[in-house]
Amino acid sequence: MLLHLDASARRTSFSRELSKTYADAWRAARPDAPYVYRDLAADPVPHITEAWTELCDYVLAHEITDISRYHEAVGTPAQQQAWDTLRPLLDEVVAAEVVLIGTPMYNYSIPSSLKAWLDQITFPKMSLRGRRFVVASARGGAYGPGTVREPMDHQERYLRDFFQGHFNVEDVAFINTELANALVDPRLAHLREQHEESRRAALKEAAQ
Ligand SMILES: Cc1cc2nc3c(=O)[nH]c(=O)nc-3n(C[C@H](O)[C@H](O)[C@H](O)COP(=O)(O)O)c2cc1C
Repeated sequence: MLLHLDASARRTSFSRELSKTYADAWRAARPDAPYVYRDLAADPVPHITEAWTELCDYVLAHEITDISRYHEAVGTPAQQQAWDTLRPLLDEVVAAEVVLIGTPMYNYSIPSSLKAWLDQITFPKMSLRGRRFVVASARGGAYGPGTVREPMDHQERYLRDFFQGHFNVEDVAFINTELANALVDPRLAHLREQHEESRRAALKEAAQ
């Protein structure tokens, strides 16, 4: 199963273009495989609640690492409500072979819509090993190796650390379209061709 998420606040967006390119290629190669799509910007998942934290504490206190046992934590109506909200989201990730995330860089990091999804599905010491995570991203500037802004890339760094450190997932790929701001900021107009090159290369990689 391919789980495809988008998080850009824009309907016409570079990260959406990139994630769609990847999803189209993946689905063409596996026409019979299930496909689930979520638009986290248009249809946001709610922030976690106090009852959610109680479920989380229960799982931690009872050393439950098996995802199929999380439901044992539910004891109150509020906890049931929190569970009903998170369960379909968690079921989708567990069922996925590939989790594809189209996301912009916002303020050196990820959009809050994506963070809200991550908060909902993440429990202590859980493993999602065996899945592949693919991040199709767009950013206004350039953050590649050797650039002045490389240390400020808390988007790729954060997601990579999170998937590896928390989910125990090693199979993580990033495809980035850079310098999107060159199209809107007159001071960066001289970088438009570089942006277009970055976009072309990213789309080619996503299609492969
Ligand atoms: C709220 C907001 C914050 C942004 N912050 C950054 C940033 O910190 N660094 C950056 O390089 N670009 C930043 N950008 C530019 C976006 O990353 C860029 O427009 C990108 O193309 C957005 O992805 P999208 O085309 O998929 O919507 C920001 C844009 C918005 C709307």
